[in-house]
Amino acid sequence: MGTPRVIHPLFVRITHWINAVAILVMILSGWAIYNASPIFDFSFPPALTLGGGFIGALRLHFAAMWLLAANAILMIGYGLASGRYRAKLLPIRIRDIIDDGRAALTGRLSHVDLSQYNGVQKAMYAAVLVAIVGAIITGLALWKPVQFQFLARLLGDFDTVRVLHFLAMSGIALFILVHVTMALLVPRSLLAILRGRP
Ligand code: HEM
Repeated sequence: MGTPRVIHPLFVRITHWINAVAILVMILSGWAIYNASPIFDFSFPPALTLGGGFIGALRLHFAAMWLLAANAILMIGYGLASGRYRAKLLPIRIRDIIDDGRAALTGRLSHVDLSQYNGVQKAMYAAVLVAIVGAIITGLALWKPVQFQFLARLLGDFDTVRVLHFLAMSGIALFILVHVTMALLVPRSLLAILRGRP
């Protein structure tokens, strides 16, 4: 049989985990920033926030955003330029999403071949990559509304951009919930994203 071949190259694994850490810091510090001026009728439990208050959270958010953005450029740049995303994430078919989603919910989805993503995975990975880019673009418009006026104008006013930024975060948070649950349910996949092969 020999050693199973590498499914996730080292570069993919390193950028995946840097992204995971950066996203977690961004979300948890973002929740503290949100709490200082909630958009909706609720705030996040302080225990689930990072930064120890508004100013600390803002500093942390602005520090981690460089890590997130630089890593996203490398991770997504590599995925696009190497053809990895084209090979692994496309085509995305509604039929596959429905069939594989149904199979997953009834415990009939095969996880034997980790080198191929199922229909739900393809759609979710592609969507979360778009959400990350969306969070960064709306974040730029919130961070420097004057310098990035064209962005803010393109997207609406400041408050609309805040809501869009919040929506991007919500999509990413929802993704993480499902994604981490699946990784724990299929530990071989976790091994693969840690050491390259199951
Ligand atoms: C925090 C804990 C996380 C765990 C335990 C985890 C686990 C995994 C695992 C096991 C895989 C491989 C899936 C497979 O081979 O079937 C994977 C891939 C992937 N994960 Fe995560 N992940 C985490 C965080 C994140 C976050 C925060 C994001 C994005 C917001 C993310 C986005 C992705 C993407 C896009 C892939 C596909 C990578 C590729 O094939 O190029 N992950 N993750």
